[in-house]
Amino acid sequence: MKPRILSGMRSTGKLHLGNFHGALENWIKLQNEYDCFFFVADWHSLTTDYANTANLKLFAEEMLIDWLACGIDPKKATLFIQSWILEHAELHLLLSMMTPISWLERVPSYKDIKAELSDRDLSTYGFLGYPMLQTADIVIYDAKKVPVGEDQIAHIELSREVVRRFNFLYKGEILIEPQPLLTKTPKVPGLDRRKMSKSYNNCIYISDTKEEVHKKIMPAVTDPSRKRRTDPGNPDVCIIHDYHRIYSPPEVVEWSVQGCRTAAIGCVDCKKKLLEYMDIFWEPVRERRRELAKSPKKVWEIAKEGTEDAKKTAKATMERVREAMKLRY
Ligand code: TRP
Ligand code: SF4
Repeated sequence: MKPRILSGMRSTGKLHLGNFHGALENWIKLQNEYDCFFFVADWHSLTTDYANTANLKLFAEEMLIDWLACGIDPKKATLFIQSWILEHAELHLLLSMMTPISWLERVPSYKDIKAELSDRDLSTYGFLGYPMLQTADIVIYDAKKVPVGEDQIAHIELSREVVRRFNFLYKGEILIEPQPLLTKTPKVPGLDRRKMSKSYNNCIYISDTKEEVHKKIMPAVTDPSRKRRTDPGNPDVCIIHDYHRIYSPPEVVEWSVQGCRTAAIGCVDCKKKLLEYMDIFWEPVRERRRELAKSPKKVWEIAKEGTEDAKKTAKATMERVREAMKLRY
């Protein structure tokens, strides 16, 4: 038996290259070593986007298509939809009974995201409870490890505290304390070198066509002090160099660095070369994406089957929880 890991992604729109290299790429590797549960955290997207739910289904579908096109394999991993497993909500409720509000208020992302999204009213019960719901997601599957990014460490820490409190109150090893599974991932800045984010309008999406990617890369700002073709440039301040390091083989990176510093190549040459390697990487994904997008029914079928499987574990855990809390009558 392989150890179980679990991770989810909020469904707030199509995935970009930052999401891919920051999480999805790692999930794809982990599929072979672990019993993986990956889910669409659609309830979590409501914690910030509760006022606009029109696209929930579309976002879930697009995310599933992105996952599958990139190489998440439903034969290896269990894929499911959070809101289809009502047991998450029951466990969230029960855990909320014993979780001090101060534990939730001190999670750094609470204040950070509230400040970041200051145009929305996030002084809600649901948003405060974000890591509480995340705890329910994790412990309901007895997941020992949770692949997440740095920003989520505090959430897993809260989960551990809640589990300890639960096990202390109800006297037993009823729930399992999860551990974060941190993996080094490459930083993928947006086209303007800020963090890649929808709100900055600087994203390259997995679903972008080849032409769309070319249209984004070709006009991108490079080293701003390289005004003329004959001026030498500095790759260290250039987004094209950041991307070369992700997609191009070492000798091509070397070629671009040397060429840039000596003005032997122009930015157009450098960008065209990058696009060759980005296309080699992304064209097969785009091809699979196009196929999947033709039959969304099949995609939802995969989610349905995965959800049925996941539900079995969630139900068994809830039996244990109700038993421990003397809630079975
Ligand atoms: N909070 C996670 C994120 O924003 C998404 C998430 C929800 C999650 N529930 C989870 C991740 C459970 C891991 C485990 O990326
Ligand atoms: Fe950037 Fe390449 Fe132009 Fe140098 S040559 S500034 S690395 S695009």
